[in-house]
Amino acid sequence: MEYRTLGSSGTSVSSLTLGTMTFGSETDREGAFEQLDVFLEAGGTLVDTADVYSGGVSEEIVGAWLAERPAEVTERVVLATKGRFPTSGEPNGVGLSRRHLTRALDASLRRLGVEAVDLYQVHAWDPWTPVEETLSTLDAFVRAGKVHNVGLSNFTGWQLQKAVDVAAAEGLAPPVTLQPQYNLLVREIEWEIVPAAEENGLGLLPWSPLGGGWLSGKYTRDTAPTGATRLGENPERGVEAYARRNAQQRTWAVLDAVQTIAERRGTTMAQVSLAWLLAQPAVSSVILGARTTEQLRDNLGSADLELEAAELATLDEASDPEPADYPYGGPGAQQRSRKLTGGR
Ligand SMILES: NC(=O)c1ccc[n+]([C@@H]2O[C@H](COP(=O)([O-])OP(=O)(O)OC[C@H]3O[C@@H](n4cnc5c(N)ncnc54)[C@H](OP(=O)(O)O)[C@@H]3O)[C@@H](O)[C@H]2O)c1
Repeated sequence: MEYRTLGSSGTSVSSLTLGTMTFGSETDREGAFEQLDVFLEAGGTLVDTADVYSGGVSEEIVGAWLAERPAEVTERVVLATKGRFPTSGEPNGVGLSRRHLTRALDASLRRLGVEAVDLYQVHAWDPWTPVEETLSTLDAFVRAGKVHNVGLSNFTGWQLQKAVDVAAAEGLAPPVTLQPQYNLLVREIEWEIVPAAEENGLGLLPWSPLGGGWLSGKYTRDTAPTGATRLGENPERGVEAYARRNAQQRTWAVLDAVQTIAERRGTTMAQVSLAWLLAQPAVSSVILGARTTEQLRDNLGSADLELEAAELATLDEASDPEPADYPYGGPGAQQRSRKLTGGR
């Protein structure tokens, strides 16, 4: 396992993170404990949860695991959680206001059974709360010792820049990471969001690194998803989501390229897809998601897979969303990212 700094902070984290969104839903408590044990044994340190995962049960499971394991194990854990999405149907049970975030953080700490989390992330932008109110609240959390670092999730480029600038102008704790959706099937963040993060030193924590399972190769062109899979279990939304992605030529170009490389390297499609993300320069740590321990073991194997330059180029090309028009295509392509434009 490789260790990297958590964005612009001084905290060291494993390049693979254990995501816990399945805990308390697809994965029961016993399975979740096993995933946490296997992850730590493999050298993993960063564990990501959120107050809304399984209505708080994900945090409770992580908290119960932390309470049961010896200190020499749990002290290696770097703990990340999030607040913003509704925790009740009340008008103030949602958002990035001082009122909601203060209650949300205290509830998360209670469920996790800890005095502080290493990374507290705002789960998405809140158009109804001034960003100054949010950032000063987060800064107060840091000063109170309840939060060690502040992170953003699902922000656009301008939202990220505004948060960074306001924090700097007001002398508040700066955001150190951004948690966006990022994978070989969803690369549009490279147009505006990745350059904004790079420019400001924020590290990326990509979520849905397998596109919700697609990049493991479990869904095929001709068969609608069935059984205990994220799409198969959800007949209405699953069928619609499958049809949408199935209709895109790029989906199959990417999956074919991933499969070819996986066969040549004698590994799985999931590992190849995760290794591509691990090679992206702005990435601090890739957030793995798994229903089963077997899937997790497969995904953890990506830590030992280094793709060659030619393999990365093949994957880049097959997955390029190719904006045709200005401002991201044509002459605008120059601003997309330093890596893709390759210099001046
Ligand atoms: N900030 C945000 O807004 C946000 C949003 C979403 C997620 N997240 C974070 O990111 C983490 C990962 O997201 P994700 O769960 O969407 O990740 P993902 O890796 O794209 O999808 C994970 C799912 O794919 C399937 N899968 C995983 N590994 C597999 C393998 N080796 N072979 C076959 N199938 C496999 C499993 O689903 P099935 O077996 O059920 O098909 C698993 O639950 C979450 O736990 C959470 O911490 C954050």
